[in-house]
Amino acid sequence: MTTTTPSPPPKLRFEHVHKEFSVRAAGRGRGARTAFTALDDFTLDVPAGEFLTVVGPSGCGKSTLLDLLGGLTRPTSGRILLDGEPITGPGLDRGVVFQQYALLPWRTARANVEFGLQAKGVGRKERAALADEHLELVGLAGFADRYPHELSGGMKQRVAIARSLAFDPEVLLMDEPFAALDAQTRESLQDELLRIWRATGKTIVFITHGIDEAVYLGQRVAIMTPRPGRLQTVRTIDLDRSGDDVRSTARFGRLRHEIWSALHADATSTAASAATSAATSDAGDPTPAADVSPRELEASRA
Ligand SMILES: Nc1ncnc2c1ncn2[C@@H]1O[C@H](COP(=O)(O)OP(=O)(O)O)[C@@H](O)[C@H]1O
Ligand SMILES: [Mg+2]
Repeated sequence: MTTTTPSPPPKLRFEHVHKEFSVRAAGRGRGARTAFTALDDFTLDVPAGEFLTVVGPSGCGKSTLLDLLGGLTRPTSGRILLDGEPITGPGLDRGVVFQQYALLPWRTARANVEFGLQAKGVGRKERAALADEHLELVGLAGFADRYPHELSGGMKQRVAIARSLAFDPEVLLMDEPFAALDAQTRESLQDELLRIWRATGKTIVFITHGIDEAVYLGQRVAIMTPRPGRLQTVRTIDLDRSGDDVRSTARFGRLRHEIWSALHADATSTAASAATSAATSDAGDPTPAADVSPRELEASRA
């Protein structure tokens, strides 16, 4: 006889998540509006402690997905569960890091990190101690008294990460957090993030349009298709990251190429179907699908 132990719910569960926006309808007169589907039937489980990367071309619904996770917007239909409970709004169980540093310019690095702790009602002394601890975690010990304008882009993003981690969220949500940084800074922050993830065991959902970044960071890569944004496939990344220059290994190259091909196949088929539908309909999609090309994906990685 076999017995089955019930497995715990995943940390995050997307159940047929669908998100529509009301947009102006092209060619239907002033004030006419139509529903534009940004995310369509997105279903995925993310186990606790996983580092999931989500990759897809510009406009495929990545930020929409993250806004839904952050509770900043609600699905049109379907739902997102955190530990089995539907997400209905923002909460301190989730920390968000955006592409823009979003630091308060009049506050020092320490005071920026303390910000979320204040909201949580942590006392002054403990706040300062937690802030310093997390600034150290992101490699900024000694910079606590600097103001944002006295920090480089990479340092500002480290402060933003420290701020998100300081209030100890279970899930870290990151929307292209390193996209604005130069390549070298980006690579060192990627390594820092992997180190922090291993040290803290957080569940991370990391959005990117960079294939290399998705492969380098993710235990799994969720590949999205554009217009409407759908989950095309999820690829497990079985990569040994212990050696030097992992990005130059044959294994990394193969994984990278696989994901590139999946995105390429999508871009080609989307461009083809857009050409067909442009000839036959005046659907209210505000952005033409044909502008998503493998070239664009390539350029966005540079
Ligand atoms: N508030 C909104 N109103 C109307 N359309 C939106 C809104 N937010 C996003 N969109 C559209 O939804 C699609 C997905 O956007 P987004 O999630 O920002 O894409 P990504 O982050 O992958 O570049 C885009 O076509 C965008 O124009
Ligand atoms: Mg985005």
